[in-house]
Amino acid sequence: MSKLIIQTRELWKIYLGGTDPVSALQGINLEVREGEFLLVRGPSGSGKSTLLKIMGLLDLPSKGTIIMDGLETSKLRETARAKIRNQKIGFVFQSFNLIPELTVFENVMLPTWINNRQNINAKEETSSLLKTVGLEEKAHNYANELSGGQMQRVAIARALINNPSIVLADEPTGNLDSKSSLQVMNLIKRLNEENGQTIILISHDSEQERNATRVVNLIDGKLQN
Ligand SMILES: Nc1ncnc2c1ncn2[C@@H]1O[C@H](COP(=O)(O)OP(=O)(O)OP(=O)(O)O)[C@@H](O)[C@H]1O
Ligand SMILES: [Mg+2]
Repeated sequence: MSKLIIQTRELWKIYLGGTDPVSALQGINLEVREGEFLLVRGPSGSGKSTLLKIMGLLDLPSKGTIIMDGLETSKLRETARAKIRNQKIGFVFQSFNLIPELTVFENVMLPTWINNRQNINAKEETSSLLKTVGLEEKAHNYANELSGGQMQRVAIARALINNPSIVLADEPTGNLDSKSSLQVMNLIKRLNEENGQTIILISHDSEQERNATRVVNLIDGKLQN
């Protein structure tokens, strides 16, 4: 069996701040192995996005811990967490979060500036990824000149530029028409099958069951078996 890449131990997330506290995650124990394609399903408000953000070290749990590639992350400082995020994880969200004033090429290359990677030819990698997502012709357009499906493919290329071992995707086709959805989903499936990247995908789309190697259901902040 391949190695465990993410383990969560008794994860709780309690949001304070509103009138009543919300227990969005209630003791999640989840193990994800390298090369898995995990589909996370569950009704609206069941805690899916919360779980993904915490597993991606974008947010902290209230209790419990995440072990990433053998490393216990709960005691890490934010700079160390950011380093893991930049090196190991690619995020794709429902809203594409591109920077409209940058070109497609610049958007994809952006994480290499943040990461300050020495050993890659960022321009070559960017061109190659734009080819992978079928957008080399749009490289020098501004991000806000694209269709939704094209924007999401740019976001995926950007998520991949640092060659992450894990890709976390939260409803990546939620804002797309059916043809663009299919393109984006095929692309994500290929990452898993051809590159061996570990995928954790949140999707309401039952079509995705066929692509996933495992499905988990989240209800009221708990995993159902
Ligand atoms: N920043 C926040 N502050 C307070 N409550 C929050 C916050 N983010 C999420 N919640 C609450 O936590 C619960 C879980 O939210 P979450 O966004 O994880 O659900 P979800 O399963 O992703 O839903 P959807 O399918 O609608 O995206 C909800 O009750 C939500 O209102
Ligand atoms: Mg959500």
